[in-house]
Amino acid sequence: MVQNKNWWQDKIAYQIYPRSFMDANGDGTGDLKGITQKLDYLKDLGVGIVWLSPVYRSPMDDGGYDISDYEDIDPLFGSMADMDELLREANKRGIKILMDLVINHCSDEHPWFKKALADPNSEEATYFYFVKSGKKPPNNWRSMFGGSAWEPVGDGRWYLHLFSKKQPDLNWENPVLREKLYKMVRFWLDKGLGGFRIDAIVHIKKQPGLPSGTPDGKDGMVGCFAFARNYPGIGDFLTELREQTFDRYPCVTVAEAAGVPNEQLGEYVGENGYFSTMFDFSYSEPYNYGHGWHTCKAPGEWDFRAWRDKMYASQLATQEIGYGTVFFENHDYPRAIQKFIPEKDHSPAVQKMLAQTYFYLRGMPFIYQGQELGMTNARFDSIDEINDISTKNHYKLALADGLSPEEAIVKVRRYSRDNARVPFPWDDSANGGFSPAGVKPWLRVHPDYQTVNAKAEQNDKNSVLSFYKEMVAIRTGKEYGKILRQGTFAPILKRCGKLIAYTRTCEECGRTLAVVASYSDKPRTLRLPFAVKRVVQSSAPLAPLSAPDTLSLAPYQSVLLEVQ
Ligand code: NOJ
Repeated sequence: MVQNKNWWQDKIAYQIYPRSFMDANGDGTGDLKGITQKLDYLKDLGVGIVWLSPVYRSPMDDGGYDISDYEDIDPLFGSMADMDELLREANKRGIKILMDLVINHCSDEHPWFKKALADPNSEEATYFYFVKSGKKPPNNWRSMFGGSAWEPVGDGRWYLHLFSKKQPDLNWENPVLREKLYKMVRFWLDKGLGGFRIDAIVHIKKQPGLPSGTPDGKDGMVGCFAFARNYPGIGDFLTELREQTFDRYPCVTVAEAAGVPNEQLGEYVGENGYFSTMFDFSYSEPYNYGHGWHTCKAPGEWDFRAWRDKMYASQLATQEIGYGTVFFENHDYPRAIQKFIPEKDHSPAVQKMLAQTYFYLRGMPFIYQGQELGMTNARFDSIDEINDISTKNHYKLALADGLSPEEAIVKVRRYSRDNARVPFPWDDSANGGFSPAGVKPWLRVHPDYQTVNAKAEQNDKNSVLSFYKEMVAIRTGKEYGKILRQGTFAPILKRCGKLIAYTRTCEECGRTLAVVASYSDKPRTLRLPFAVKRVVQSSAPLAPLSAPDTLSLAPYQSVLLEVQ
């Protein structure tokens, strides 16, 4: 098993969606000054690394993942001086900031793309995938946000966009473009950034010739993954990126690397991998929404065991080659409780059980803003309340497939990315203290803000927030920290249904901890493969053990145990 050796492996990471964290200037949108104001909240939680979703200049077609100037801050978020101040203040508190590096695509409002449109013979035109193709798109690839992955520009040329049509893909085959990107990455690292979370990076290599594929849907199109995700040859680009940038700084790089098979993890995050670590999405969407959210199974309907086994497989494979990340939420998903637990069973105690399930796995834990409060989905009433481009697409797909608007909004409520993008509730004042009273935040405030908010939970020792703080203290503390950071992962009680259970063993110190999390809505008694030395933490009051190896759990209860 590979041992820890880098500064970042001991940290707890926290993801901020800047638009929705804290609105310091009262314009309805979160900003950098707001984040700086709240650094002490993060320090108090025990966070050592903060990943900021994009704050670069952007038309905000896809929440900032469409960048029109890589070396400037969008006025919505403030100025470069605000960014420098945030970096300074974070450093003072021992917090490293990661920015989001979005280099598979830029915005169609980036000067490069504007020049490319205006002049087909310009150098900038070679930075993108432009193909002359008359009235039909050059191939039948479907964009990840729906519809063709090609957009005509009126002069016979079409350009490729794997995401929205306002996000043209950059042509990584062009060395001049690559060098410009590397220079930009160094510009940020020179500012003392802790590193980057790297967006959609597995898509930068496309199959040469850009061939059509066999249609996989009624629209005659085909998902672009087979042709443009982790495509052979991508390693040359990723190695060069690393050598020209990251290798020269003491930074951490976290790749958004969906679809990398376990056998290839070593190339990505092994000893000489392209990145320090990565997000593995193999177990983050048990419902697999291939052809629209309306086709997905609800929690309780999908295969629990298959989901759990993917989590185990990811842990086992990663510990052989490096150090992964663990997460249940981010800005692209509904809240975890909505993904994994039937609605009728939701409660703060279940939030704690979910938290324990993932937080003690092997890897650097990420908390997504509001997760530590046990936030739930936002309960949108109408599509008019939605900002997210992918939600609008899924809503349309549902209507086209015959669902009524009432039926389609039920799917939005369950799966929309906006569910986790609503303003962070700081207290029970108007707008949850996110924006001043009288200001309308860019996305509606969560209906539960009067009870589920940071201030209320800070004063309640039984709150989800207090539970997270306890988990952070356990994970980073002297007593158990080493076991939880370095210990080997091994699944246990695999034959039991609706159960996630594993040990973490530190060979060096000869100690083992175990997590046992019941996903059953019924009480249960389990015979453990060991005697319990100590109950370290429980998601709810625990019944006394009837024997040292016999554990009785309430519905959806979990525990962290020390093994005899
Ligand atoms: C992944 C990001 O997390 C998501 O929010 C974005 O829409 C796509 N990449 C495109 O950049």
